[in-house]
Amino acid sequence: MPALYRMGYKESIDPAKLPLHVAVIMDGNGRWAKQRGEHRITGHQNGVKAVRETTEAAAEIGVKYLTLYAFSTENWNRPKEEVLALMQLLVSTIHGEVETLNKNDIRLMAIGDLKSLPQDCIRELTEAMKATAQNKRMNLILALSYSSRWEIIEGIKCIVEAVEKGQLKAEEISEKKFESYLCTAGIPEPELMIRTSGEHRISNFLLWQLSYSELYFTDTLWPDFGKEDFYEAIVDYQGRERRFGKISEQIEN
Ligand code: FPP
Repeated sequence: MPALYRMGYKESIDPAKLPLHVAVIMDGNGRWAKQRGEHRITGHQNGVKAVRETTEAAAEIGVKYLTLYAFSTENWNRPKEEVLALMQLLVSTIHGEVETLNKNDIRLMAIGDLKSLPQDCIRELTEAMKATAQNKRMNLILALSYSSRWEIIEGIKCIVEAVEKGQLKAEEISEKKFESYLCTAGIPEPELMIRTSGEHRISNFLLWQLSYSELYFTDTLWPDFGKEDFYEAIVDYQGRERRFGKISEQIEN
């Protein structure tokens, strides 16, 4: 037993100030692989371990929504073999994790242009979402073939259609109404967005929903991201003052 016990980040978390929703841009798989002289897909395969760690970490402390940016609209432009390998990895991971998700009372959800995914991916995803639909502890949301600009344009198209059909009046379009046309309808906005690998960008991820989110960037590459890294981000978030355009004194009162 060491004489001095150093408190970990988990013990420093204030359960009363937990974010309800954490969104993550999982970045750095390719660089992680390159550093080891491995093929990029090895990075993605090792990224799955970080997905598990982060999901467990979030559920353990009581986060209710965890959104992971797993595949962007722009990722379709990567070399064919990488896209194929990523899709296969998604299918096998989703298939292999359903039992664990159920054991841990975690519901799987997805946002994005899901119909653009390969058939076997759509099938696994639909089955896993159905099999976990009753789970209540946490919602794990995968952003797949997702981009925020795509989502916003799709929302606008649906609004225009509703207006044309006389189901909606232009003056009824409010922020709240618009949100109901996004993929994230019914899901609270993320209070915290984490991006790994040292890149300081949002990259077309939840542009509307991240308007007031705290942004946390770490140099850690995604496959190396573990529970303590997640807890460190939560502790950092809890040390911030969220003002939503107001001044400090208004928040204190
Ligand atoms: C970004 O790293 C990562 C991705 C585009 C894919 C993320 C996918 C996984 C972690 C695997 C499966 C996930 C789930 C949810 C089952 P990058 O390739 O852009 O890295 P780089 O910037 O270093 O090239």
